[in-house]
Amino acid sequence: MSQATTQGRLAALQRHLGAIQFSEDSGVEIATTKAVSKEQRPAPGGGPGSLTIIDNRTGKKYDIKIDEFGTIPANSLKKIKAGGDGVGLRTYDPGYVNTSAVKSAISFIDGDKGILRYRGYPIEQLADKSHFTEVAYLLVYGELPDARELARWDEALMRHSAVPDAVERAVAALPHDAHFMGIVLTALNALSTVHPEQNPALAGQNIYLSKEIQDKQIVRLIGKMPAIAALAYHRASGRNVSAPNQRLSYAENFLYMLDAASKPGYKPNPRLARALDIMFTLHAEHEMNCSTAAARHLASSGVDVYTAIAGAVGALYGPLHGGANEAVLRMLERIGSVDRIDAFLEGVKAKKEKMFGFGHRVYKNFDPRAKIIREVAEEVFEIQGRDPLIDVAVELEKRARSDDYFVSRNLYPNVDFYSGLVYRAMGFPPQFFTVLFALPRVTGYLAHWREQLTDPDVKIARPQQNYTGVWLRDYAPMPQRQPLTELKETLGAVPPSNAYRRRVAGVNWA
Ligand SMILES: CC(C)(COP(=O)(O)OP(=O)(O)OC[C@H]1O[C@@H](n2cnc3c(N)ncnc32)[C@H](O)[C@@H]1OP(=O)(O)O)[C@@H](O)C(=O)NCCC(=O)NCCS
Repeated sequence: MSQATTQGRLAALQRHLGAIQFSEDSGVEIATTKAVSKEQRPAPGGGPGSLTIIDNRTGKKYDIKIDEFGTIPANSLKKIKAGGDGVGLRTYDPGYVNTSAVKSAISFIDGDKGILRYRGYPIEQLADKSHFTEVAYLLVYGELPDARELARWDEALMRHSAVPDAVERAVAALPHDAHFMGIVLTALNALSTVHPEQNPALAGQNIYLSKEIQDKQIVRLIGKMPAIAALAYHRASGRNVSAPNQRLSYAENFLYMLDAASKPGYKPNPRLARALDIMFTLHAEHEMNCSTAAARHLASSGVDVYTAIAGAVGALYGPLHGGANEAVLRMLERIGSVDRIDAFLEGVKAKKEKMFGFGHRVYKNFDPRAKIIREVAEEVFEIQGRDPLIDVAVELEKRARSDDYFVSRNLYPNVDFYSGLVYRAMGFPPQFFTVLFALPRVTGYLAHWREQLTDPDVKIARPQQNYTGVWLRDYAPMPQRQPLTELKETLGAVPPSNAYRRRVAGVNWA
């Protein structure tokens, strides 16, 4: 390797290692943060005012208030009535594509401009200069911690980094080939049962108004997620998870729990730990996405925080959400080589399949996280070797971005397009990718949980429906019912398995 190349790589590493000191002898210098220019926020949705609505059914005129967020209170439409059943006007918004359900100060996305900020800080600066636990503190408590606060935070997280025995046993009861996300969900639900003293159903509805109780659950959950993920990882490998090493950083300790085996002096590669730490920062929060909305939705019922977080992680499991990085990898493996890209794209355009890792409900421009992950990928490949699928991914992105189908629909690569390649290069199996998403995203859920606890506007989440069913009918006794063949919907064939047939073929079965 030439000296120039070596120096270039060292510079890249130095940049990525950035602000975090992973271990005492890593020799990493702390990077400084440049001030951001103070720009004024443009009035959201055009700002406050009012809306005059004329109901053409009745000819009546209504003034509706527009608030400072450029939104109208949905309840203000209730007064618009036109007879019938007497119910006022409502909005119909499947998938909540144009409905604000909360006020939140945690993160901001401008999908048209490709902007993501945590508490006002651009994601690019946080990924470059900060590290995960500092970002987690920022997300949960609103400000970057000073040195003392960060030390207390890190100590509290590490003190809560071990998983209780009951959780380990619950996980051990699962099949050895259980999906990693199923294991994480089991562990989170088991954690709920281990800590009954914080459960509002058992300890009283107001238990979470105690800051002490709130903080305790926050450090428990963020602290334990790496151990839960490591537990899931080794359920399949059959090897033991190493006990947490409290002297290491968050990402380093996660790698330690995976890889140390019984060697207490083991230290993970600091460059890989830094790469993972950046990935954690990028995945920590993303405002009202499907799973965060699920966390808020569940918590609105007053359920305990572990169950709310488990529900959110369940939503993240879906291939249209956090499961997309696994789906991307399988898609790239299926395409296999650059010469098969065109045929694949034809299939996507004919709607025969979906291009996972492309498109986003909010970003109609480059997902800023995808750009950073491409850089992280190059860094990881330098250590682990280049993944041939990266060439397929780069070419796929290039061709899609010059194809009218994707251009006209504003479909760009999202966070999942390259993240799977980073994780694969780091030696993680595809089924584990969503766990690596869930691990840091629990922080975002908790920031929202905490914010919601003190929000005076919060109500139990309970959307309305537009009823489409039969209006009213009398209960029909069995002889008067229509023959099954005339019904549109009925129970399909549920054939018994051969094992069932074998069992019932014996004597004394029933
Ligand atoms: C993320 C996603 C669910 C957003 O969905 P959405 O906001 O409801 O957008 P829509 O499904 O209405 O998409 C609008 C159009 O683009 C198309 N489209 C969106 N994403 C597409 C994709 N990944 N591949 C092919 N076509 C896509 C839709 O078919 C639709 O086309 P039409 O106008 O001809 O009907 C969607 O883009 C998707 O499924 N992406 C792949 C999964 C993924 O990577 N998820 C991770 C998100 S971080």
